[in-house]
Amino acid sequence: MTSLPFPPNQKLEIPIALVIFGSTGDLTRRKLVPALYQLALADHLPDQLHIIGFARREWDADTMRAEMHAALEEHARSQPLNDAVVQRILGSMHFISSVFDDLAGYQKLDALLEELGADNRLFYLATPPEAYGTIVGHIGEAGLASCAQGWTRIVVEKPYGRDLESAKALDEQVHGVFDEEQVYRIDHYLGKETVQNILVFRFANGIFEPLWNRRYIDSVQITVAETVGVGSRAGYYESAGVIRDMFQNHLLQLLTLTAMEAPAAFNANAVRDEKVKVLKALRPLTGDQAMSDTLRGQYMAGKVAGEKRPGYKELEGVDADSRTETLLAARVQIDNWRWAGVPFYIRSGKSMPERVTEIAVQYRQVPLSLFGWQNMAGEAPNRLILTLQPDEGITLTFGAKAPGPENRIEQVKMDFSYAETFGGGSPEAYERLLMDCMNGDATLFNRSDEVLAAWGYVTDILESWESHPAAEPLEYAAGTWGPAKMDEFIERYGGAWRTFDD
Ligand code: BG6
Repeated sequence: MTSLPFPPNQKLEIPIALVIFGSTGDLTRRKLVPALYQLALADHLPDQLHIIGFARREWDADTMRAEMHAALEEHARSQPLNDAVVQRILGSMHFISSVFDDLAGYQKLDALLEELGADNRLFYLATPPEAYGTIVGHIGEAGLASCAQGWTRIVVEKPYGRDLESAKALDEQVHGVFDEEQVYRIDHYLGKETVQNILVFRFANGIFEPLWNRRYIDSVQITVAETVGVGSRAGYYESAGVIRDMFQNHLLQLLTLTAMEAPAAFNANAVRDEKVKVLKALRPLTGDQAMSDTLRGQYMAGKVAGEKRPGYKELEGVDADSRTETLLAARVQIDNWRWAGVPFYIRSGKSMPERVTEIAVQYRQVPLSLFGWQNMAGEAPNRLILTLQPDEGITLTFGAKAPGPENRIEQVKMDFSYAETFGGGSPEAYERLLMDCMNGDATLFNRSDEVLAAWGYVTDILESWESHPAAEPLEYAAGTWGPAKMDEFIERYGGAWRTFDD
C-alpha cells in the first residue's frame, strides 16, 4: 500500500523550540513526550530541538527530566528504552514555572527563546481549555506570535469550544493573535494510520469510488465503542458527554472522510475544503427531529470484561441527577447529490462490551432476486468494513454459493489485516501529528471553518436536548451495547446495528 505523499521519514534540519503549556499534565506524559521519543528514535527530529515546559507547578528542568523519564518508562511505545535517545530528549528540556495569567512568565519564555536561538517556534496548548484564551492573549502581548527569522505555530488541543458560540469566541481570540495558517487544531483521530487510510483506500483505488454513492450504498454505520468508562475524568466529562467528547470531533471527522468528494490535490486546503462541504451539507437536527434521530444513554453499574464497573452516577464529581450521556446514537443525513437518502448511523459509548472503531458500508440488495427464497433473508450480502481499531483491517463481504445440490447462498469475506501485511507497531497518532506541524503540513488538522461547521451541527442538537428537559438519557448496564431502545431506534428505519461477529 502506498504511503501518503508526505513521508514522515525526513529528518528536520532546522532548530525548533517546542513550548508545551500544561507540560505537567497527563497529555504531555502519556502522549507528547512518548511521541517525541519515538520520533527521536527514528531520527526524525532536528539536532537542535528544545522542549520547553511551561506550567504552574514549581518544577525546574531537572524535575521535568525526572518526571518525563518516568513517563517514558511507562508509556513509550518501543521498550526497552534506548538510553542515548532518552538522554537526548531529556537533555533538550527546559522548564518555566509560571501561572498562565502572568505576563512575566511569557517574558521569561521570550528571553529563553532568544538565548537558545530558537527561531522556529511551536506552541502547544496541552492545558485545560479554560486557559486557551489567556495563554494566546499573553503570547500576543509578549510579542511571541511571530519571529522575524523563522516560523511560529500554535497547536490547540480539543475541545475547541463547547458550542458554536464559545468556539467562535475562542476563534476570535486566536485570530486576534495568530493567522489561520499558524493554527493547528488537533483531532488525534486524524493522526491514526487507519484513519488516514480511508482517503488512500477511497482515492488511490479505482474500483471502489464509482460505487461509493447513493446508487449502490444503502446505509453507513460508524461505531466508536470503548470498553473504558469515565473513571477519574468525571470532572471534565460531566460537562462534556459523548457529544462534545467524541461526536463533535472524532465521529464527525470519520464521517467527513467517508463522505467527502475527492480533493483536487492532496494538500491542506484542498482536503479541508472538501471536508467542510460535507459538514455544511449535514441536514440540521433541530427540535423534535433531533429528539427522534438521536438516542442518549448513561451507563449504570455492570461488568466489563468480567470486572465490576460502578455506574456513571456513582463516580466522584458526577451529579446525582446527572443527565450527561455516556452513549450517543444518531441518524445523520447528508443532503447532497452523492448521499441524499443514505442514512449514516453513528454510535459511540463508554463501558461497552468491546473496543471497536469501524466504518461499515452496507451496499444495496441486487435489483432482482434470482435465487428466490434461498437468497439471503432479504439482507444484501455486500458490506465493506473498515476496522480502524483494534484489529485494523478492511473486510469485504459477499454472497457465495455454498457447496451442495441446492442454491444456498452464504455470506463470505475477503480480509485484509494491517498486522498480517505490515507487521505490528504502527506509529501513534501524536507522532505523525507532531511531525506534521513541525513540517508545516496542516492537512490532518482542523481548519477554523471546519470546527465551526461541526459545532453548528452539534449545537442544534444540544439546544434541542436542552429544550426537552424531560428527555433523560436512557439507562444501560456497563458491559452491554446500550439501552433496550437502541435496537428500536434503528429498526424504525429498517436498519440493524452491527454485531461484530462477522
Ligand atoms: C479522546 C476522548 O479524545 O479520545 C476520550 O477524550 C476517548 O474520552 C479517546 O477515550 C479515544 O481515543 P482512542 O485513540 O483511544 O480511540
